[in-house]
Amino acid sequence: MPPLQTLTIPKPDDWHLHLRDGAMLKAVLPYTASHFARAVVMPNLKPAITTTAAAAAYRERIREALPPHMTFTPLMTAYLTDTIDPDDLERGFKEGILFAAKLYPAGATTNSDQGVTDIQAISDILDRLQKIDMPLLIHGEVADPAVDFFDRETVFIDRVLIPLRRNFPALRIVMEHITTRYAANYIVSEAQSSHGKLAATVTAHHMRINRNALFEGGLNPHHFCLPVAKREEDRQAVIAAATSGAPMFFAGTDSAPHPRTAKESSHGLGGVFSAPNALALYAETFEKAGSLDRLENFLSLNGPAFYGLPVNAASLKLEKRAAPEEPLKSILTEEAQEVIAFPTESRLSWRVALKEPL
Ligand code: NCD
Ligand code: ZN
Repeated sequence: MPPLQTLTIPKPDDWHLHLRDGAMLKAVLPYTASHFARAVVMPNLKPAITTTAAAAAYRERIREALPPHMTFTPLMTAYLTDTIDPDDLERGFKEGILFAAKLYPAGATTNSDQGVTDIQAISDILDRLQKIDMPLLIHGEVADPAVDFFDRETVFIDRVLIPLRRNFPALRIVMEHITTRYAANYIVSEAQSSHGKLAATVTAHHMRINRNALFEGGLNPHHFCLPVAKREEDRQAVIAAATSGAPMFFAGTDSAPHPRTAKESSHGLGGVFSAPNALALYAETFEKAGSLDRLENFLSLNGPAFYGLPVNAASLKLEKRAAPEEPLKSILTEEAQEVIAFPTESRLSWRVALKEPL
């Protein structure tokens, strides 16, 4: 059956992505590279990517893992630690190897144990980033065990982000994967004072599920990611922000694959693998919000404008199917590890129309 509707936009970018390494990298990369021209690649490998040399080597492994008929640009990040070398960061940035620096508060999420223990202790690094206009990408959650798990993002804004922006007013900051009304309002309220230097990414899954999805029908580890999904009112506020067309919101899937066995276990890991279905999910969300005309801003225009990069010359076609279809449910790595894809429980009415099948 012919599609009900099509939408052609400049090829999108994914401004927050986990590609992992080895067999997992090889298995997941085609799903991103077929839909996105560029992606900001997270550095939380084990060991973490903390130097320019490690980022260059990782970028090479990504290039080698890319199927020969695909084009894709990985934008590399450095994982900030208490002892990272600012001269190396600057060199990597100026040589075009490093695209941004990533702040993980120690203990806040998967593979963040090498992260920053005290933001005050890295003020020389932040000073350098500000000086050279190297973007700081923030996992905005406190890891303080005294703070309620669902309040980690809100408390981070008050305790860390507000003082940080006061001390480094010209620092280019992305608050990643926002999940709360509080965060969405904060970003909007700072639009004037930040002079285009404060933005936020939004995932497809946080616009799709609220925290009930963790518990419906029994504890569901495939809906567990960090930051954890919040209340319905938060989800609605995040959707309103992302679909508003405002330039400081853009797509970052935070697609974060883990083997099924690592998800379906005690101490199951945070992270959902959304890369294959993310664009369809974003399209559905925007359509439901009556904002399909703004999808292009969110997926393809706002990110490049924030980072001062060209919009991708290639284009991508999305189609609305006459009848919703089962999305891709799972993939297998070469090492026979199964990875469950998000969403696990629903059909999708949009899909990417690919010229060549994967
Ligand atoms: C990410 C991962 O698995 O690396 N997990 C997640 O729940 N999003 C880490 C992160 O981005 O927080
Ligand atoms: Zn992430």
